[in-house]
Amino acid sequence: MDQTRAVFQGKFDLLENIKISPLSRGYTFSDGVYEVVPFLNKTPIAFDDHIKRLKNSASALNIFPDLSKVSSEISALIDANEIVNGYVYYQISRGQDLTRNHLYESNLEPEYFGYIKNHDFHDQQFKVLLCDDIRWNRCDIKSISLLPNILMMNDAASKGCKEIIMHKEGLVTEAGASNVFFIMDENICTPKLNNNILPGITRSMTIEIFKKNGIDVLEEDFQVKHLLSASKIWLTSSTKGMAEVFDILSQEHNIKEESLLYDKCVSVFKKGFFN
Ligand code: PDD
Repeated sequence: MDQTRAVFQGKFDLLENIKISPLSRGYTFSDGVYEVVPFLNKTPIAFDDHIKRLKNSASALNIFPDLSKVSSEISALIDANEIVNGYVYYQISRGQDLTRNHLYESNLEPEYFGYIKNHDFHDQQFKVLLCDDIRWNRCDIKSISLLPNILMMNDAASKGCKEIIMHKEGLVTEAGASNVFFIMDENICTPKLNNNILPGITRSMTIEIFKKNGIDVLEEDFQVKHLLSASKIWLTSSTKGMAEVFDILSQEHNIKEESLLYDKCVSVFKKGFFN
């Protein structure tokens, strides 16, 4: 029996006991937003930043959740379970329709759903597929509507890649479920934030940790050719931390060079992220 612990509409239960209506707009329209909050030794990493981003994502959808309820439910899931290292997935969707209708009623009660998962924050390495970014132009919203990511990432998986790096009109955006950093000419580079990129919490933590350690990060528009000239590439996310890219499919270039700067980045990141 699956023992995953969850909460739905304020009620804590095993995940398998939770039932939703097929007319939940989360189900019919992916009309909602989410967060993945990592925790280590039972302490959430950048908790306030995740709650703030959830608020921003929700308000972009005209959903105004009770955030103190969200915070206390996430904390309760972490506190009341034996899991020491892991993450809480938490989503807020618009609510239940009486009949499926693109236009939503203004008085719907949002649906709050979260569950806790064990997660091992071990070092990971990725082979990625470089692909055209087919997503919409509000990727700064952490929406549960992830069909383009799903299509692109599963196409990549069929080619032996566990992640993708996307580009839009020649500019690098991000990965399927992470942000992108790379070293070019001994500079640390990451695409600057805009509507095509999720403002990753780990991304901003990385920049902050590096700055504190005297390593500057260039946040600019970068072209695919810049990425392909990189001596090192890595991905950041709440569950991956800092994960090296060891190969990019269908492109010929060498990202396996030794880099003292990269080794320093890994070392300061681990101290800052897991402190
Ligand atoms: N994904 N970009 C995208 C498209 C993402 O889905 C994620 C996170 C990130 C990194 O954001 P953060 O550092 O805040 O986790 C960037 C989560 C982990 C997921 O969907 O599982």
